Amino acid sequence: MHGTPAAQPVLSAAQRQQLIDAARAMLDRAYAPYSKFHVGAAVLTEAGNLYTGCNVENASYGVTNCAERTAIFSAVAAEGPTMKLRAVVVLNSATMPCSPCGACRQVIYEFGPKAAVIYQGNGSLSESTAEQLLPAGFHF
Ligand code: THU
Repeated sequence: MHGTPAAQPVLSAAQRQQLIDAARAMLDRAYAPYSKFHVGAAVLTEAGNLYTGCNVENASYGVTNCAERTAIFSAVAAEGPTMKLRAVVVLNSATMPCSPCGACRQVIYEFGPKAAVIYQGNGSLSESTAEQLLPAGFHF
């Protein structure tokens, strides 16, 4: 063997597919009577657990919770304050390009600056790290 070993992928193909399937399964749970834009998310934690979420809208539009934050907050609620993210997948039912919003980028960054973030791009899935999506993210 010569040269540097290939970097280990953050996710196996099976883990990636499991997250995609779990995020897709959340599309029917979305509460989106205002936008009609259904979003599903699934996260894999460093502990190896999977959590899911959907967007939850409100008549007072600004208090809407995105699918990504629903999933991440569920992960914290289940694992506690040491929860770290390994990967986040976000899909929508409109098959529209949709990367995480700014608020969600900051929340993803809090729990996993190196986490893989997989989202619908133009016709196919795109993948970035949280810190690529949020350069110079805020942290204490
Ligand atoms: N939304 C998400 O849940 N995640 C995103 O990444 C983008 C936007 C939701 C919020 C709102 O319920 C609807 O999509 C339209 O903005």
